[in-house]
Amino acid sequence: MDRNADAPWSKFDPEVYVDLNYRTPLEVDLLIVRSLRDYFSRCFAGSVPDSVRGVDVGAGANLYPALSMLPWCEKILLLEYARPNVAYLERQVSPGGLDPAWDAFWQVLREAPAYRDVDPRGRLGEIVRVERGNLFDLDGQRRWDLGTMFFVADSMSECPEEFRRGVRCFMNALDEGAPFAVAFMKESVGYHVGEHHYPAYRVNEDRAREALAPFARELEIHDLHHSVRPGHEGMLLALGRRNTEVAVP
Ligand SMILES: C[S@@+](CC[C@H](N)C(=O)[O-])C[C@H]1O[C@@H](n2cnc3c(N)ncnc32)[C@H](O)[C@@H]1O
Repeated sequence: MDRNADAPWSKFDPEVYVDLNYRTPLEVDLLIVRSLRDYFSRCFAGSVPDSVRGVDVGAGANLYPALSMLPWCEKILLLEYARPNVAYLERQVSPGGLDPAWDAFWQVLREAPAYRDVDPRGRLGEIVRVERGNLFDLDGQRRWDLGTMFFVADSMSECPEEFRRGVRCFMNALDEGAPFAVAFMKESVGYHVGEHHYPAYRVNEDRAREALAPFARELEIHDLHHSVRPGHEGMLLALGRRNTEVAVP
């Protein structure tokens, strides 16, 4: 069984990954971005608390979770383990660095009032920090007020225990009441980026609910019946809020 530490993360090619997944926006990603936009707008309707800190865990080569958090946050951390992805993210948030590929996602976000007056390029540079780190080292360490984790706990190991631990480490890093969005590939048997193979755990809706529910309130799991390649059966998008202040072991 391929565990997280066994996969060739240092060989992960962000440009190939973007070409495969995001350069031509897929209907399902645009659907997810609309859901993030509307969910966060609902969560922060009325007033946005001061100094909201956001985190995207395993950000990889995907900027849309960070873009979806831009209007709400004073600071956003992009935490990523693979060095080539860390370098990619640093380029994206540097002045003039954002690839125009991400504009299509911003166009969807800016249909909502909170996003309309935000300059994504300027704001990414102002508030986003990129850090190399391991999701498994997060346990109980830091607290964020808004969090996203897209295709990470399910797409980094074949091991059921590592999937549950990944979810737990993410959820335990969130403060009480923090809105979160988590996405999983459904029933994925692994994936290729260029010539390298990466492991996955076969998540279904029940397994996703079982892993997230101890940490969540108002949990919604949306089964998105879109397949983007052979070897999986759609995507799951979980939205909700962190339930208690106490870290669940
Ligand atoms: C399938 S990619 C998802 C990337 C991105 N979030 C997205 O939505 O496309 C899985 C990501 O998890 C990262 N990853 C793998 N193991 C990790 C770990 N232990 N801690 C943090 N990130 C990890 C990988 O480097 C990769 O960027």
